[in-house]
Amino acid sequence: MIVLGLETSCDETAAAVIDGAGKVLSHAVLSQISEHKPYGGIVPEIAARSHLSHLDALVQNAMNDAGVAYKDLSGVAATAGPGLIGGVLVGVMTAKAIASVHGIPFLAVNHLEGHALTARFTDGVEFPYLLLLVSGGHCQLLAVQDVGKYQRLGTTVDDAAGEAFDKVAKMLGLGYPGGPAIERAAKDGDRNRFDLPRPMKGRAGCDFSFSGLKTAVRQAAESLPAGDLSTKDVSDLAASFQAALVDSATDRCAGAIETFRALYAEGNTLVVSGGVAANTALRSALMKTCEDAGMKFVAPPVALCTDNAVMIAWAGLERLKLGLIDPLDFKARPRWPLDPDAAPARGAGVKA
Ligand code: KG4
Ligand code: ZN
Repeated sequence: MIVLGLETSCDETAAAVIDGAGKVLSHAVLSQISEHKPYGGIVPEIAARSHLSHLDALVQNAMNDAGVAYKDLSGVAATAGPGLIGGVLVGVMTAKAIASVHGIPFLAVNHLEGHALTARFTDGVEFPYLLLLVSGGHCQLLAVQDVGKYQRLGTTVDDAAGEAFDKVAKMLGLGYPGGPAIERAAKDGDRNRFDLPRPMKGRAGCDFSFSGLKTAVRQAAESLPAGDLSTKDVSDLAASFQAALVDSATDRCAGAIETFRALYAEGNTLVVSGGVAANTALRSALMKTCEDAGMKFVAPPVALCTDNAVMIAWAGLERLKLGLIDPLDFKARPRWPLDPDAAPARGAGVKA
């Protein structure tokens, strides 16, 4: 089996070809960061136009690098949601056109399922497992029961973790994307200089909250002498913020491990995935939490945590193996929760 995967839901245009054994035959990722940087965040219209300009050539390169002809493909998978709908449509229409012209199955992949199943591709993790999905748009704890079967244990009631990183980075003048910039600035900073809150710490349940932490960083910055923040102030604020966010997130995970175990006695792995899973401080803290709880901890390589097409091809392959192919009139979805039965979280907008 050989699957082509396309990813266009946010600010990365990506195409990958993988085989049935899960070997990556090719992977091309084109970041749009320089196009959005002047605006301090992602501009949906620019993102959609850029995907449209680059996707065809990127797909052709991925096919050439893999040394695979279209007739050799067993299926073509594309992120069909959730995400910025203009970009999602570009990927979905391209995949449908390839599927239609070459008479191969089309696989509509939920971007979040791409992140969720990555650990099965990289580490062969068995179902069920506990997943911390932390990205720019989402922050959830899920029991991954099977392909297409998820139980949401908790979610953010306001901002997503990546959103908090991005907003605080903007506040500190560190630019976009915020996560890597905060992590770099925090390296030289004093994480104990500012006494920031740990939202939800010690509370029952598995929900998150980050908007109060963001406000506390703003207040701490405003409490400093007027004028531009010094490099040291920025580093100390970044380090204090990162430490507080990691502390709050790991506390929620420690509670979720207990909840998960009570529900799924056979599960013994915590997986972290999504762009924020690239954060070294978060990875180390989660490893410690898992050690303390006697859980196995799996964090995919950083390049497969941030948005990529390998994860879409892999999720497509898992679905194809189960016969879960989609019709060519499948509609792209701006919103597509993994657990449709979970109650919407108050204040979280589309992040539930
Ligand atoms: O999964 P992703 O690439 O795109 C979405 O599906 O949202 O996640 C992007 C998010 C951004 O908010 C970015 O700032 C954050 O992941 N991020 C990080 C790091 N690298 C990316 N956050 C913290 N530390 C990092 N090293
Ligand atoms: Zn993502």
